[in-house]
Amino acid sequence: MENKTKLKGTAKLQIDNKTVELPIYEGTAGPDVIDVKKLYAETGHFTLDPGFTSTGSCESQITFIDGEKGELLHRGYPIDQLAEQADFIEVCYLLYYGELPKRDESRAFRRALTYHTMLDSQIDKFFEGFRRDSHPMAMMAGTVGALSAFYPDAMDVNDPEQRRLSSYRLIAKMPTLAARAYKYSIGQPFVYPRNELGYAENFLRMCFSVPAEDYVPNPVLTDAMDKIFILHADHEQNASTSTVRLAGSSGTHPFAAVSAGISSLWGPSHGGANQACLEMLQEIGTVDRIPDYVRRAKDKSDPFRLMGFGHRVYKNFDPRAKVMQKTAREVLDDLGVKTPLLKVAQELEKIALEDEYFVEKKLYPNVDFYSGIILNAIGFPTSMFTVLFALARTAGWVSQLNEMNQDKTQRIGRPRQIYTGAPRRDYVSADHR
Ligand code: ACO
Repeated sequence: MENKTKLKGTAKLQIDNKTVELPIYEGTAGPDVIDVKKLYAETGHFTLDPGFTSTGSCESQITFIDGEKGELLHRGYPIDQLAEQADFIEVCYLLYYGELPKRDESRAFRRALTYHTMLDSQIDKFFEGFRRDSHPMAMMAGTVGALSAFYPDAMDVNDPEQRRLSSYRLIAKMPTLAARAYKYSIGQPFVYPRNELGYAENFLRMCFSVPAEDYVPNPVLTDAMDKIFILHADHEQNASTSTVRLAGSSGTHPFAAVSAGISSLWGPSHGGANQACLEMLQEIGTVDRIPDYVRRAKDKSDPFRLMGFGHRVYKNFDPRAKVMQKTAREVLDDLGVKTPLLKVAQELEKIALEDEYFVEKKLYPNVDFYSGIILNAIGFPTSMFTVLFALARTAGWVSQLNEMNQDKTQRIGRPRQIYTGAPRRDYVSADHR
């Protein structure tokens, strides 16, 4: 990656009668940054920013979020345009290579991914080692990490061709692994990928086909699945992507780094929120119970939060939530599903958006607010929701990792701390404690 930050000026910081000048850089868009790299060398001080609320960890040219406006751009293209006009494979190409593919590039890319969808049959034995009631995310973290044992030919992250091969393998094999995790958990035989099918359709078939009855594709569901993949493909330096970058900064291979990302994504404040959100909507059940849940969400003595609401970066509508809401309507209409869930979600959104607490804290629906309703209607159990997120986010993870590995300024990530533990003291033998 060619570094493109521009020096804009300097910030002056005064510490103990000493003034240090820190460079200010500007990017293409977003806030300027103060470069504190030399702060420790010049002043003996660290910066402290738990949760990284004011800290940029890297330069990146992949994704930009304007949280105030509610805008998400991949390589400059707005997410709603990509969701409406592109397909997931095109978005994968865009994230990885930086440009939308020309026709021949698109054909070659699709073909390459298609021919990497199969798994070594030994991988199936890994699944057999899991309990049937294992969470599918546990199976994903384990089996993605295990893939590294099968591809020693592409472990050198300093070789662009090996990075490319591992990235293609990861994007291509995630649906096969995810479908196996699902099939294993419900005790059904694994279904193998089919080369004539598109990415989303192939995945749905591997999940819902059984030997006794082949899966009949439904274009509305295929399209919804593809949109869900697009909307989750990348999201700047979120917790799981930062985990992938930090793991990868030691020079580890992409399978290990992505496995770490999957583990980070699993948490309920991140990828686990879609599961938690649908469970919350099911628990609320009917519109008349909403005020009670809104009251609980506002009560500081109650740990309950409105899942699918709020975001560290968006202080406006998450643009992905708007696409999700429309897609949820289309899927439910097509399937003729009469569920109160969509009504509960829409009414909850309306009430929360008018409520002073949510307005003041700028809490809006995020991508997870409607995605669970769609996935539920397609037929996925809630335990699979985060797996689908991981499948889609793999495109972002490998692109971010690839970018990091080309960045000349990249070094191993090593945050510091402020230590508040015991001062130095001498060991005391057990008799004298
Ligand atoms: N319901 C009720 N109150 C909320 C909510 C919510 N969903 N989200 C934030 N708040 C309140 C907090 O209590 C806090 O109030 P305070 O200032 O009076 O203490 C304030 O809003 C700020 O919240 P923080 O937790 O400090 O904000 P942060 O940026 O750290 O957290 C997060 C963002 C984790 C997404 C949070 O909004 C949340 O927990 N939401 C629910 C879970 C969720 O939907 N996660 C999905 C995120 S999107 C994704 O990963 C794809």
